[in-house]
Amino acid sequence: MKRISLEQIGLKHKEEIYRIKKEYDNNKEDYNGAFFIKEFEDYDKLISGLDNYAKGIMDNPNYVPYTCYVAVTKDGQIVGLGSLRHELNDYLVKFGGHIGYSVVPSERKKGYGTRILKLLLKEAKAKGINDVLVTCSEDNIGSKKVIENNKGELEDKIEHDNKVTCRYWIRM
Ligand SMILES: CC(C)(COP(=O)(O)OP(=O)(O)OC[C@H]1O[C@@H](n2cnc3c(N)ncnc32)[C@H](O)[C@@H]1OP(=O)(O)O)[C@@H](O)C(=O)NCCC(=O)NCCS
Repeated sequence: MKRISLEQIGLKHKEEIYRIKKEYDNNKEDYNGAFFIKEFEDYDKLISGLDNYAKGIMDNPNYVPYTCYVAVTKDGQIVGLGSLRHELNDYLVKFGGHIGYSVVPSERKKGYGTRILKLLLKEAKAKGINDVLVTCSEDNIGSKKVIENNKGELEDKIEHDNKVTCRYWIRM
């Protein structure tokens, strides 16, 4: 595993985002934790929209402000993505939580997922969020371990649409 840091997604990440997007598409990923790069027509517009959401300027009243990040190595390689919701709404309390993350398919099982969540928790703390809700599907063994590696405490499990969502609190 290389040393990584989190950067808010921006214009300078364009080439790398297109590279990893190909990998997600070839892997037939559903973009869980990587929703913000799933579909866009114009990269510059994507970034200006995401910049606005990070500042709390929303175009959808059902969405709370959120910041999107890339996890990059020193030489600029993106190994993963993350997002941090600045607050929770009724849906996020039940299913989405504060944080989402995804590791680029070819970089999984190297420790990046655990590291990315740790870095996202630092970002949450910097925004004054001390009790962080993180959720994952009960059958997502990798994600469960990532959360438990970061001292997640299981609050409960919610059954919906033939799925079970595990809700964890990480208290800092
Ligand atoms: C879930 C995910 C983020 C894990 O990332 P990762 O970089 O593989 O995680 P790590 O390397 O830190 O692994 C953490 C632990 O989970 C284990 N693990 C990871 N993927 C696993 C899998 N598919 N099956 C079983 N165990 C797995 C690792 O071996 C490691 O175990 P350890 O702590 O006992 O050593 C990654 O698989 C992913 O991006 N999945 C798609 C998106 C997603 O599901 N996001 C989460 C949304 S809730």
